[in-house]
Amino acid sequence: MIFDTHAHYDDKQFDSDRDELLHEMKEFEVGTIVNVGASLDGCRKAIELAEKYPFIYAAAGVHPDEVGDLNEDTFEELRGWCRRDKVVAVGEIGLDYYWDTQPRDLQKKWFIRQLELAGELGLPVNIHSRDAAEDTFQIMKEYGKGLSGIIHCFSGSKELALEYVKLGFYIGIGGVVTFKNGKKLKQVAEAVPLTKIVLETDCPYLAPEPYRGKRNHSGYIKYVAEEIARIKGITCEEVISRTEANAKEVYRLYRYNEQRV
Ligand code: NI
Repeated sequence: MIFDTHAHYDDKQFDSDRDELLHEMKEFEVGTIVNVGASLDGCRKAIELAEKYPFIYAAAGVHPDEVGDLNEDTFEELRGWCRRDKVVAVGEIGLDYYWDTQPRDLQKKWFIRQLELAGELGLPVNIHSRDAAEDTFQIMKEYGKGLSGIIHCFSGSKELALEYVKLGFYIGIGGVVTFKNGKKLKQVAEAVPLTKIVLETDCPYLAPEPYRGKRNHSGYIKYVAEEIARIKGITCEEVISRTEANAKEVYRLYRYNEQRV
């Protein structure tokens, strides 16, 4: 079944029909979702959702746009959340030089602190990087050693993707791969072995074709899987089952009495 490795069902765009939509996920062949926190409030809501729905897990972390809210006290709170049973990763964390809402040295400081937190707790990470490929990679090489995780919504070159694979990371691919102007990501999907790819929505954002521009949800991931299957010349079922196994491996879901995949 489909595994959505990066979703934001805590977003207000789901306020009108969140529960109805999540109840429908089985019909869309969606088996597992990791709801990723991006702000302190987002983390709280992500954990609530994970504790309400058996098939939802949470990641807790503070996005570079939100690191102004971090201090030693809130960081301790985050550490506590990361120890909760259904929190499977630290994320999303990273650098965002596109919006640049926080000073870059502050973004770097809290990115590194959260990478160290993941190392301390033995959790994988979920990495956000926008217009900051070089600095993100430098920090990951230095502070991400020994960690595993996902480079979410990967937007770099295929060469960089393969460098991350060498470091032990998985590449998160979502709706952009279906876009006509998504050529770079199509090349990434071709170059990265299927054993190192995971699927994601980043919903409510980045809906794939034919829903581009609409509100995204995990049920649309099949369009992403179809495009990767087309690019790699394999079946859609193979893409779905292999990426599900990859996601269970990276998020270590075998901890929850599931068979190790
Ligand atoms: Ni996200």
